[in-house]
Amino acid sequence: MNIKTIVISDYDNLISFWKKHYFVNEMDNFERSKLFLSKNPSLSVLMEDKGKIVGTVLGSFDVRRGYLQKVVTDKNKRKKGVAKKLVEETIKRLRKLGAIYVPINCEEEIVGFYSKCGFKKTKQVPMNINF
Ligand SMILES: CC(C)(COP(=O)(O)OP(=O)(O)OC[C@H]1O[C@@H](n2cnc3c(N)ncnc32)[C@H](O)[C@@H]1OP(=O)(O)O)[C@@H](O)C(=O)NCCC(=O)NCCS
Repeated sequence: MNIKTIVISDYDNLISFWKKHYFVNEMDNFERSKLFLSKNPSLSVLMEDKGKIVGTVLGSFDVRRGYLQKVVTDKNKRKKGVAKKLVEETIKRLRKLGAIYVPINCEEEIVGFYSKCGFKKTKQVPMNINF
């Protein structure tokens, strides 16, 4: 299994992978994905096994914080260290760019995973505005 930087030509394979193993919505359309990758070159990674995607992380940097999205592992390959390796790789790349922290909002059942990746709970309360 090897880690590869995501490029826009991976788009169709990524959509099939996320549909099968997580979800997609309008934020994943081609134009937004292209813009996202052009604004954040070399920050998104996938792991492949014999040419097939088994995990992804989309990374981004706003010049202050780093962000992780689409942290997803193939349903049949979970608990084998795939996502942790991809998160660590993305964080390494974010730190190189100067990010000093990476906030995460996640469901309670994923807290154990992010803890294993080194994240700590904070006293801050996550809030959203949805349009
Ligand atoms: C969350 C997810 C990405 C984890 O992927 P994974 O490849 O199975 O994770 P890893 O194997 O790298 O796990 C790293 C460590 O966390 C642990 N872990 C993984 N999932 C866990 C969970 N849900 N709860 C607690 N611990 C978990 C693993 O056992 C492993 O522990 P170890 O280092 O002691 O062996 C995967 O379950 C997934 O794709 N879920 C659906 C998408 C999702 O919800 N993503 C998060 C969006 S915020």
